[in-house]
Amino acid sequence: MDNVNTNSNAPTFDKPKVELHVHLDGAIRPETVMYFAKKRGICIGAENAEHLLQQVVMKKPGTLTDFLNKFHIYMPTLAGDKEAVKRIAYELVEAKSKEGVVYFEARYSPHLLANTAVHPIPWQQTKGDLTPEDVVNLVNQGFREGERDFNVKVRSILCCMRHEPGWSADIVELCKKYKKDGVVAIDLAGDESINVTANMGHRKAYEEAVKHGIHRTVHAGEVGPASVVREAYEVLKAERIGHGYHTLDDKELYRELLDKRIHFELCPWSSIITGACCPESEKHPAIRFKKDNANISLSTDDPFILKSTLETDYRLAKWFMGFTENDFKTVNLNAARSSFLPNKEKEELIKNLKEEYEKE
Ligand code: NI
Repeated sequence: MDNVNTNSNAPTFDKPKVELHVHLDGAIRPETVMYFAKKRGICIGAENAEHLLQQVVMKKPGTLTDFLNKFHIYMPTLAGDKEAVKRIAYELVEAKSKEGVVYFEARYSPHLLANTAVHPIPWQQTKGDLTPEDVVNLVNQGFREGERDFNVKVRSILCCMRHEPGWSADIVELCKKYKKDGVVAIDLAGDESINVTANMGHRKAYEEAVKHGIHRTVHAGEVGPASVVREAYEVLKAERIGHGYHTLDDKELYRELLDKRIHFELCPWSSIITGACCPESEKHPAIRFKKDNANISLSTDDPFILKSTLETDYRLAKWFMGFTENDFKTVNLNAARSSFLPNKEKEELIKNLKEEYEKE
């Protein structure tokens, strides 16, 4: 699989792309972490960006827990700092413009970047003055400036965290408040072994989302079983499934989600590095999804920790999963159709993609 991560100048799919599943806090430049570590006098045990990358990047398949532990290395340098929050948002738009992305939806937990009005305060920070709502405003500012400077459109998805059901009521309120201001949906991320039916906080937040027309996606069936996908679909009324690989283990559910055209946000490289899928990527669930004409798209997930770009995923899809140029067009049109943009903006995005894809 070594040729997936080699540097070649010719992109695998040299056409406009849409990305639906990228975590803002998993898509950070190492230099930016070093800058804020220095500025704030936070010791992270790395002397330079390269050294930091050695600590943060997962190079071979591991567990999702190993993966989530990586955030502990660098999040303390960014959380609670206004300049940092706005800058990582701005820089993500720049990064996506270089990857040929024309529209993307970035997700994050505002609580994990805040240092007040959040219980418990994350990353062992001392209490400060940055609330989750301030975080949403700063990310919005960074995205708006990025859109202006790099001609890429971006919207946010706010994440509930499975281990913190107490935060979810805030999340849905923020989704409602910022519905016309950059925020398009709610997500549920984190450890899938935590059952949502036992945590009414998430369930109530999703019920509220349904009531107020807030779009819904849920991380499910990544490392967790098909039952987590079923719960996301039946209980949380998810319109899209983050990953969803293990849906394939429940034939009946899979059939139903295919029939309902539920969208699966696949992240090929991530799925292998987190141990969610078999490292022999020829057996990857994406192959089955593609064969069954499922509603799928391709995303990076956490490119900082994965040391990847969208190109890594496209290359993997092409060389190990048999995706053709036409398949890439299809998955990007799928992404546009299943995006959480208002209908008019969505139609415009689809039209623009089609025009570009018809050019030869
Ligand atoms: Ni994810």
